[in-house]
Amino acid sequence: MHNILITGGAGFIGSHVVEEMRKQFPEARLVILDKMTYAADIRNMDGSLDWDRCRLVVGDLCDFDLCQRVTRDVDCVVHVAAESHVDNSFGNSLQFTRSNTLGTHSILEACRINGVKRIIHVSTDEVYGEIEQGAHTETDILTPTNPYSASKAGADMIAISYVHSFKLPLTIIRSNNIFGIRQYPEKLIPKFTLLGLAGKKLPMHGTGKNRRRFLAVEDFAAAISLLLRNGAPGEIYNAGTDEEYSNLEVAEMICNVLGLRISEALTFVQDRPFNDSRYALDSSKIRKLGWSPSRSLKTRLPEVVKWYESHFSRFNQIETA
Ligand SMILES: NC(=O)c1ccc[n+]([C@@H]2O[C@H](COP(=O)([O-])OP(=O)(O)OC[C@H]3O[C@@H](n4cnc5c(N)ncnc54)[C@H](O)[C@@H]3O)[C@@H](O)[C@H]2O)c1
Repeated sequence: MHNILITGGAGFIGSHVVEEMRKQFPEARLVILDKMTYAADIRNMDGSLDWDRCRLVVGDLCDFDLCQRVTRDVDCVVHVAAESHVDNSFGNSLQFTRSNTLGTHSILEACRINGVKRIIHVSTDEVYGEIEQGAHTETDILTPTNPYSASKAGADMIAISYVHSFKLPLTIIRSNNIFGIRQYPEKLIPKFTLLGLAGKKLPMHGTGKNRRRFLAVEDFAAAISLLLRNGAPGEIYNAGTDEEYSNLEVAEMICNVLGLRISEALTFVQDRPFNDSRYALDSSKIRKLGWSPSRSLKTRLPEVVKWYESHFSRFNQIETA
């Protein structure tokens, strides 16, 4: 691998993918394409941008001329960038379709024109919709229920059509909720952590009984680099954990780490217009390639909370409530 383009490298997952690519392909040149939305932070790439093999291009996936320029002379693209917060998609859904669906189309068309040899497209378990029992496999139909997941499902459909129509050497990875340091505090774990550290109430949507699975961001980045090496072009791989909690249980874990009483810390607020009850992925296909998660939320949470504590000032201008 000589030249790797990572979209969304200044965001949460993308910044960990950049680190993973540096580790796995130290000889490669990295280009990061990022629009630097509110969710991005230049400090997420501390260390990487000082490295002479890494370059940041600030721009929008929907700028097709730019996509053509940044994919020229690139062997491999890891497409991570997206509008990622479900709650925002209820109020600003056009931006989600624009960045996630049209933006994916734009970068994939540029990959096709420039003959990029390997592409990983990052998707989500949310495209399958909720599942009461059991777990979704890669062949299940997509039944997204909110504008975010619909825009991601649209992106997946374009990606799959490019595999069929143009034999684009693309692999899709779908994961469950990801946790770790550098996540923007609109998502449950960093949001509750920072609010708890500030002595504020933790606003729980609805009953808090919705169930989610949590995968460490480092394990997810490792799954991506495994697929770059051994994933089959044209295939979809689920990458998730079996570690499942209700949102209430996650809040309780955070309170325990912070030394707060959950009964005093929590306040219940109106739920999203629609909130999937449970997501679960069957990851046996990628596990056959040798991948499995090596970190758990329960054991890693204190470390993540500690990071937010020591970076508290970075986030104190952000409205988390
Ligand atoms: N966070 C999770 O729990 C989770 C779970 C499953 C899948 N995913 C997927 O992983 C990917 C990354 O998620 P994240 O949590 O790191 O998101 P994030 O919001 O932290 O980062 C997204 C990055 O994409 C950039 N971006 C957004 N729109 C862009 C555009 N039009 N052009 C160029 N750059 C743009 C942003 O500036 C930001 O740096 C997304 O595709 C998301 O759907 C996330």
